[in-house]
Amino acid sequence: MDEPLLEAHCVSKRFGAVVAAADLQVRLLAGERVSLIGSNGAGKTTLVNMITGWIEPDEGQILLEGRDITGLSPRAITRLGVARSFQIPQLCGDLTVLDNMLVANACHDPGLSFWKPARRAEAIDRAEALLGRFRLLEHRRRRCAELPGGVRKLLDIAMCLSARPRLLLLDEPTSGVSAEEKFPMMDTIMAGLEDAAMTVLFVEHDMDIVERYASRVIAFYAGRIIADGAPGPALASEDVRRYVTGELLAE
Ligand SMILES: Nc1ncnc2c1ncn2[C@@H]1O[C@H](COP(=O)(O)OP(=O)(O)O)[C@@H](O)[C@H]1O
Ligand SMILES: [Mg+2]
Repeated sequence: MDEPLLEAHCVSKRFGAVVAAADLQVRLLAGERVSLIGSNGAGKTTLVNMITGWIEPDEGQILLEGRDITGLSPRAITRLGVARSFQIPQLCGDLTVLDNMLVANACHDPGLSFWKPARRAEAIDRAEALLGRFRLLEHRRRRCAELPGGVRKLLDIAMCLSARPRLLLLDEPTSGVSAEEKFPMMDTIMAGLEDAAMTVLFVEHDMDIVERYASRVIAFYAGRIIADGAPGPALASEDVRRYVTGELLAE
């Protein structure tokens, strides 16, 4: 059997009386494109937060290539090859697109110290190459605060790749983007990722996007996994139709 890239064993998390994660078992393999689905409050972001070290589970372990990363800081987990984007992009609004990318690259590769004249040309080349992969070059001189929502999201994701992650977690990459823009945006994201061996976990509410871009679906309801498998059967399952897509009446 394939060695998993990431494993979550018996992971639980409560916030007061709310069970945000109930005894979760998750295995992610190299190269998978996994969509996390579930209604608001189902526990999707909590799982992303636990994998990336933003929240510590109450119980259970999270293993990255067999190494226990439970309770490590977000920074330490990023260094081990796990990167994430947020539901709301985390950018410096006063800086330009290029400057944000220069800073992100320098954080992960001290050699790209763009403020040193001798390294500036190389640092700009590398930043522009990454911007180009996500169709962001035309925006490079704009301040981030002026950008439309979809462009901000793309930049946030492009900046994640500075860390050269093996596992990338995207929390609602197409939220706040108009219906017509969603497919082109996902095409841009998936093409920009390039590295087929990278494992991608993305939270998504639009089932057309899930069907087109996911190789696997994990569905949540009330902190529990109610389906885990190929998109066709997972989306057709009774629990998903009742508790996620609302095609069947919830009890
Ligand atoms: N930091 C927190 N403090 C208190 N409750 C939280 C916190 N984070 C999440 N929750 C609660 O945990 C549940 C799952 O939340 P979340 O994982 O954000 O859901 P989703 O991303 O699926 O919409 C919700 O009931 C939410 O209100
Ligand atoms: Mg969420």
